[in-house]
Amino acid sequence: MPQRILVLLAHPARRRSRANAALRKAAEAVEGVTLHDLYEAYPDFLIDVDREQALLVEHDVVVLQHPLYWYSSPAILKEWQDLVLEHGFAYGRAGTALAGKAMLSAITAGGTETAYGPEGLNRHTIAEFLRPFEATARLCRMRWLEPFVVHGTHLLDGASLARHAEAYRARLEALRDAPPERHPAHAHPAHGGH
Ligand SMILES: Cc1cc2nc3c(=O)[nH]c(=O)nc-3n(C[C@H](O)[C@H](O)[C@H](O)COP(=O)(O)O)c2cc1C
Repeated sequence: MPQRILVLLAHPARRRSRANAALRKAAEAVEGVTLHDLYEAYPDFLIDVDREQALLVEHDVVVLQHPLYWYSSPAILKEWQDLVLEHGFAYGRAGTALAGKAMLSAITAGGTETAYGPEGLNRHTIAEFLRPFEATARLCRMRWLEPFVVHGTHLLDGASLARHAEAYRARLEALRDAPPERHPAHAHPAHGGH
């Protein structure tokens, strides 16, 4: 059974996007991927929680695709987390709807890889900046996957962008075709972690 992949895309200015536009096109071409553009769906930020929870339940892998904005995500993804990942649904004693699913962050960043090294301008790696997402996945009993990162977006020419889009397509196809995880994610303590 192929794994069903939900790509939650958060980019507030689709017409100005180069990197995410290229990744989006690649994801849309992968059979078994549902691409859900959050800014397109909710231009007024009024998120339909029931619809979003139903989408999560219907998929096995959740991809959070977005540009890095101020070392985090564009605002709508935070709103989505705050409203959709409810106690009793996503976490807490009875909140097991996401248990055993996987989460992948697919990030584009203006900063180069060097800028995200220990001696670089930003001091920390992107994996470190993504810790709140990683912790969120774990609290929801999800598997946290190695993030997919495109660095130095301002420096990328068309050919480099195409290579990253191809790598993204390959990563999504590999996730889709991977056998489902045999062991459910470890249960969290009864207090629910928060
Ligand atoms: C509001 C804003 C905040 C940004 N913050 C960061 C940041 O913290 N780190 C970084 O590397 N790039 C940052 N950037 C650059 C974007 O990550 C980069 O332009 C984007 O990933 C390119 O993707 P796109 O072509 O799809 O827009 C920021 C850009 C904007 C507009």
